[in-house]
Amino acid sequence: MNFQEAKEKLEKFGQEHVLKYYDELTETEKQDLIQQIDETDFAVLENCKNLGKSEGRGKFEPLAAMQVDEIEKRHDEFFKVGVETIKAGKVGAVLLAGGMGTRLGSDNPKGMYDIGLTKHVYIFQRIIENLLDTVKQAGGAYIHLFIMTSEKNNDITISFLKEHNYFGYPEDKVTFFKQDMAPASDYNGKVYMEGKGRISTSPNGNAGWYASMLKAGLRDVILKEGIEWMDIFAVDNVLQRIADPCFVGATVIEGVACGAKVVRKNAPNEGVGVMCLEDGKPSIVEYYELTQEMMDAKDENGDPAYNYGVILNYLFNEKALFDIAKNTLPLHIVEKKIPYLDENGNLIKPEKPNGCKFEQLVLDMIHELDSCLPYEVVREHEFAPIKNPTGKDSVESARELCKLNGIEL
Ligand code: UTP
Repeated sequence: MNFQEAKEKLEKFGQEHVLKYYDELTETEKQDLIQQIDETDFAVLENCKNLGKSEGRGKFEPLAAMQVDEIEKRHDEFFKVGVETIKAGKVGAVLLAGGMGTRLGSDNPKGMYDIGLTKHVYIFQRIIENLLDTVKQAGGAYIHLFIMTSEKNNDITISFLKEHNYFGYPEDKVTFFKQDMAPASDYNGKVYMEGKGRISTSPNGNAGWYASMLKAGLRDVILKEGIEWMDIFAVDNVLQRIADPCFVGATVIEGVACGAKVVRKNAPNEGVGVMCLEDGKPSIVEYYELTQEMMDAKDENGDPAYNYGVILNYLFNEKALFDIAKNTLPLHIVEKKIPYLDENGNLIKPEKPNGCKFEQLVLDMIHELDSCLPYEVVREHEFAPIKNPTGKDSVESARELCKLNGIEL
């Protein structure tokens, strides 16, 4: 793309301000900006007018979860199949670490956050220690760990993990890939600039991982290694069990396209997404979409029918994902704090949300699949998310939960 073409593209989308400082840029910066204009999909910015509007949903029905008591009863059966599947090299793990962690407010990637009290305990370290537990259970069979970063945190994430020798995980079993970016705008859909020669972008959501893996050519690795199942999980749950044999075994035995770890809700209106069926296909209903009738609904045992919240840990059948990879996932508009250049060219870091980011979410990926097994885990043992510095889902609450589970910090 040349300057003239870039200008025309911007005019078409009403984004001419992107070139405001063009004449002040060095030759390299000019080229980089033109390239960014070429690669940016400005059409998504149109969607900011739908901020806050509910997305049309289908007919919801409950989807029964496999509960802890059944899992305990069938433990040996699940564990055996899980271990066999892992030992056969059929399981990969994908760490979603592309997020910006804006609520935590640290400048570094979330995984570099140190939750230790008497020693260093980085979030990445906790995650890898948990994965090493699985390796041990599987008789020393290592699981290929794919780590998704974004353009914003890739280099620092790689150097941090290298510096710490991957916290004991073999380097040849770790592969990094970058997720795609989407532009970020003000409420009128005008793209923000984060530098005089740089359009403001942010990672395109937690569902971007599979498409980005394909783009990075990693399907070849998946096929070569015979990986059939991929456990994807969030960076910020420090009690996360990853590809644990029972979960793998249950998902394989049930013959579903995907397993989803869920926890029992602690109140009918708890702010978590709940596993359900939507128009007969697996889906997740957000807590604010639950009607009173749905909150009151009971299953055949008299328990709440919409009772299991997702914790962003899913085991996907890779072939099933590949089959749906061509489908376009819906775009969600999220209100966020976006650093931007003001009128005078000064970089402002806002205290309050000031615009929109555009994300694809993993829940829509699940809805494309034919079947999903919600698999109950005990919240206190497997769910300690770190979203905020203090209060709910915070460093503080995660430390308490680590203590409860005998993890020294
Ligand atoms: P969150 O939705 O909590 O977002 O991510 P976040 O970016 O970490 O934090 P906030 O909202 O800015 O405070 C849940 C998981 O999904 C990953 C995150 O890294 C985290 O593991 N994620 C999120 C991505 O990998 N890419 C994204 O674009 C968004």
